[in-house]
Amino acid sequence: MITVSVCVGSSCHIKGAPQIIERLQQFIASYDLWNQVELKGVFCMERCTQGVTIEIGGEVFSAVDVVAAEELFRTMVLVPLGFDSSEA
Ligand code: FES
Repeated sequence: MITVSVCVGSSCHIKGAPQIIERLQQFIASYDLWNQVELKGVFCMERCTQGVTIEIGGEVFSAVDVVAAEELFRTMVLVPLGFDSSEA
């Protein structure tokens, strides 16, 4: 199980966290990863000035937008799970 946490604190919410969560849900659905990926919202990760913050498999990334989240999901989730991420 790979855990993907997206900060849903107010600063990250304003900067686009809901759109990132929506996109990640689409990824999880299209690859049917509900049993392999846990997507959750977490409260402020204390990097508010650095844009949306997400954590994947214990690594924290800041200033994430939808495009960056897609790329992180490919490299940090799809590839380790053995998927061909080029089709996402
Ligand atoms: S609100 Fe997301 S890091 Fe603070």
